[in-house]
Amino acid sequence: MDSRDTYGFEGRTALVTGATGGLGSRLVRTLSELGCTVYAAARTPERLPADCRSPAIVPIAIDLADPASIDASIPQLRDVSIVINNAGINRADSVLFCRDDHSAREEMEVNYFGPLRLARALAPFMAERRDGVFVNILSVLSIDHLVACGSYSVSKAAAHSLTQGMRAELKTSNVRVIGVYPGPMDTPMSAALPMAKIAPDDVAAMIIDAIRSGGDEIFPGP
Ligand SMILES: NC(=O)c1ccc[n+]([C@@H]2O[C@H](COP(=O)([O-])OP(=O)(O)OC[C@H]3O[C@@H](n4cnc5c(N)ncnc54)[C@H](OP(=O)(O)O)[C@@H]3O)[C@@H](O)[C@H]2O)c1
Repeated sequence: MDSRDTYGFEGRTALVTGATGGLGSRLVRTLSELGCTVYAAARTPERLPADCRSPAIVPIAIDLADPASIDASIPQLRDVSIVINNAGINRADSVLFCRDDHSAREEMEVNYFGPLRLARALAPFMAERRDGVFVNILSVLSIDHLVACGSYSVSKAAAHSLTQGMRAELKTSNVRVIGVYPGPMDTPMSAALPMAKIAPDDVAAMIIDAIRSGGDEIFPGP
């Protein structure tokens, strides 16, 4: 990772959802080391790992499946200029011959409707300041459907289209929208997958570089 602060992370305020998770906790730590104040959002903030506890890291409770919980967080988040929509769930279920009738709806709530609600609430503040960046953590499965994770693929495809829509609508507001499309990552979500995986620290470093360099999309990992 290039350590020069060419973007100006120092002094900015960031929000990372899913801060208890494999990638989320790395992003919280990395952004705080770069000088950001970081809102670390989790369903259960008490579960934030020890290395995500510092004066620059502010725990905040957000359940992305609960619109009221998102709405309640917004007054605290008005000055956020880096929003990382990272939280996600993968029920490892298919679309037609599924094990659980509820998987598809749950995945859409957390992977699509939650980030949509958060973006609708925060984008106006960023647009008014003409400054900010959204980073949406998507997946290679946003683009390539995998039957074993079929309903997850659908929800990530919806989030990919959301990302394109956000980018188009914010184009004239100086608010950037970066889509991140990782392959398998070495986190609890893919612990059961016996395949090559990229380290979440490497993905976090690529995201920081993308924020610095101005690209729209990155594809970390195999
Ligand atoms: N791992 C992979 O192979 C892979 C590949 C491509 C893309 N991704 C994407 O990368 C992102 C990060 O995932 P990860 O690999 O770091 O997985 P992870 O370790 O399982 O972390 C997922 C995070 O999402 C949070 N979360 C789940 N349901 C939530 C809800 N209703 N409201 C708020 N937060 C919720 C979890 O919090 P709790 O502690 O409350 O459960 C956890 O912090 C996800 O968007 C995922 O889809 C992962």
